[in-house]
Amino acid sequence: MRRQSDLAVIRRVLDQARPFWLQIAGLALFDLLATPLVLLVPLPLKIAVDNVIGSEPLPEFLRVLLPGGATSSNIRLLIVAASLQVLVVLLIHLQGLGSYLLSSYTGEGLTLAFRARLFRHVQRLSLLYHDSKGTADSIYRIQYDAPSIQWITLGAIPVVTASVKLFSMIYVIARIDWQLALVALAVAPMLLVVTHTYKRRMRPHYLGVKELESHALGVVQEVLTAVRVVKAFGREDNEQERFVLQSRKGMRARVRLSFAEGFFGLIVNLTTAIGTAAVLFIGIRSVQRGIVTLGELLVIISYLAQLYEPLRTFSRQVANMQSSLTSAHRAFELLAEAPEVVERRDARPLTRAVDMIEFRNVSFAYDTKNPVLRGISFRVEAGSWVGIAGKTGAGKTSLVSLLTRFYDPSSGQILLDGEDLRDYRLADLRNQFAIVLQEPVLFSTSIAENIAYGRPGASEEDVQRAAISANAHDFIANLPDGYDTLVGERGMRLSGGERQRIALARAFLKDAPILILDEPTTSVDVETERVILEAMERLMHGRTTFMIAHRLSTLENCDVLLLIEDGRSVVVSSDVSPAVIVETADAD
Ligand SMILES: Nc1ncnc2c1ncn2[C@@H]1O[C@H](COP(=O)(O)OP(=O)(O)OP(=O)(O)O)[C@@H](O)[C@H]1O
Ligand SMILES: [Mg+2]
Repeated sequence: MRRQSDLAVIRRVLDQARPFWLQIAGLALFDLLATPLVLLVPLPLKIAVDNVIGSEPLPEFLRVLLPGGATSSNIRLLIVAASLQVLVVLLIHLQGLGSYLLSSYTGEGLTLAFRARLFRHVQRLSLLYHDSKGTADSIYRIQYDAPSIQWITLGAIPVVTASVKLFSMIYVIARIDWQLALVALAVAPMLLVVTHTYKRRMRPHYLGVKELESHALGVVQEVLTAVRVVKAFGREDNEQERFVLQSRKGMRARVRLSFAEGFFGLIVNLTTAIGTAAVLFIGIRSVQRGIVTLGELLVIISYLAQLYEPLRTFSRQVANMQSSLTSAHRAFELLAEAPEVVERRDARPLTRAVDMIEFRNVSFAYDTKNPVLRGISFRVEAGSWVGIAGKTGAGKTSLVSLLTRFYDPSSGQILLDGEDLRDYRLADLRNQFAIVLQEPVLFSTSIAENIAYGRPGASEEDVQRAAISANAHDFIANLPDGYDTLVGERGMRLSGGERQRIALARAFLKDAPILILDEPTTSVDVETERVILEAMERLMHGRTTFMIAHRLSTLENCDVLLLIEDGRSVVVSSDVSPAVIVETADAD
């Protein structure tokens, strides 16, 4: 797998987070407020021990801050200390709550923006990419890898605030006793070494877990989309096994990770405990020798308990950062996939195609080894009907997929209105076609919305007119909910013939100048075929049509017949109308 350095990933993350910089800066400033509050925590205890019980003079800043009356008697001073205790805790929690809300808001916003960008990109990726990668991989990257952006962007804030906390506490300790400050400091480099080693070791494991999990998700997705086939062949148990096998691999990897994480935690805690022990040892001796007061030692020990918290934040952030960086890396990998079909920068607009379509020596292959189409040339005048026949697997669907630029030819050119397809804006080009596929795909919404898919906002009358033209109105009207009937996922609640007629209605409504019909009648009975063919001829009227069929009888009304043999050459029927000029191409 290609490795981007962590820095490069971070740079890309920050780039993505740029629109949120104001929120992020606000959050960072707000988080810094925590430092003075945390420093105040042991103050009430110190006042109580040194000034209420003991007879040390009150610290300078307190004498300035407190009104004279408050410091006049011990009991009053104790009340001040006790109230201070409550106040500090209250403020710390309010600050924590605010910071939590602010960071959730910013973080979720960041994730949403990144997910939206990934989804947009995935929709643009070529069919070649989707055919080979499958859907689960992309789903995992969009759903589970994208949030890494918030952990990386906002992860820096706890690190910064933790550093500020750390240094201010060490500063205060050093003001009291520099020896104790040195002991506290000595632990930090040890922790840094531990975390660095951990980071280097863990990264491949995180990557492994993510890949295993996305494989398991892939099994679920594949089985659920093909649930009929799985049931029909009684393969539930095998699929179950496949899923459990994949998931178990993921589980083992996760458990190994937890072990490593736990061991890491042990080392960190042990290191900090040794540091605390050393401070306790040296500190008590300093109190005994009168170098520091008891209250001051209590302040130091209280800081120590908190001193390691920022250090732990560091190491936790480093560990999380590894997992997040891996995720971000995977998400950016998806973005790095170039859409295979690209629109030129100076692509020209196209309102409605009016002229001929020409294939010039077009060859095409899905992969470099097996060419599907080779050296195909023909020309079709606007408005003529082209029948395409050939054995199964000959390349008929591939040929029409080139027209809509689902794929680009490997060599040669396809011209529409005298211009290469690649010179047009992609959206404009695809707008020229209405397509009815071998297996019509509907969306899990109402019939009306499915018909209007190519023209959102079409009026009810338009939808109905299209359905009537497609011979679909009668069966729709007989459904209890009529046009509002929900068709189920991928339209599974309708029969094949019904789905096909809705797809035809969709094509009617789109009213495009060029029509592609890819064996729309393969899955229906003779009666339904007749009904569909009749509707289809109505649709073909006045449009350039490419019609694929196995049975030559279906194609007898076409102006020209392309016969594709072994996906290699195009033989054209001699019964050519004057509107169509064809050059027969030789394969080799
Ligand atoms: N997405 C794809 N990736 C790789 N190879 C493909 C892909 N789609 C089709 N092929 C291969 O390209 C060849 C032509 O397929 P195509 O779908 O164009 O045939 P067809 O003439 O439409 O067949 P049918 O009549 O069965 O629909 C086949 O050998 C097929 O295996
Ligand atoms: Mg086909």
